[in-house]
Amino acid sequence: MNSRAPIGHLLKAGALFIALLLFVSASSAAAPPEVNYRFYCAQCHGLTGSGDGPNATRHQPVAPRNFTSASEMSILTDAEIILAIGRGGGAVAKSTLMPPFASTLGAEEIIELKDYLRRLCRCSGPETPR
Ligand code: HEC
Repeated sequence: MNSRAPIGHLLKAGALFIALLLFVSASSAAAPPEVNYRFYCAQCHGLTGSGDGPNATRHQPVAPRNFTSASEMSILTDAEIILAIGRGGGAVAKSTLMPPFASTLGAEEIIELKDYLRRLCRCSGPETPR
């Protein structure tokens, strides 16, 4: 019986495990806002941001925000947008159909998403909260 084989297998399995760990930790690193938007937001807010994603149906009580509308987006402060993304619609007295993302996305990713939404509306928000 060859007693060395199991150790070889163990080493190979260990190397594979480390490779897998590296892959998983690399893939959980911050993604660019376009990628995060398509993955986490587009199903409700639409690929182009106009609030018409496949999960937004007229049977829902509220429509997802239309990010391409400067009139809708310019009344929101940057802080409100960041709060809504991180803590969900309920945190800004809006519908809880808007989910919280603070445990899914990093703080920097949320700020970058806010900047991405500002590019979609080509607008800025009021300086001070209303
Ligand atoms: C499950 C559907 C859904 C997903 C997914 C979703 N949203 Fe929303 N979102 C909504 C709805 C519905 C509203 C409107 C809430 C209201 O007006 O009461 C909303 C509102 C918002 C608002 C406006 C909040 C305000 O104060 O008016 C922002 C900003 C926003 N979403 C950002 C995002 C971002 C960024 C993502 C992805 C990371 C995302 N949402 C993912 C449904 C969703």
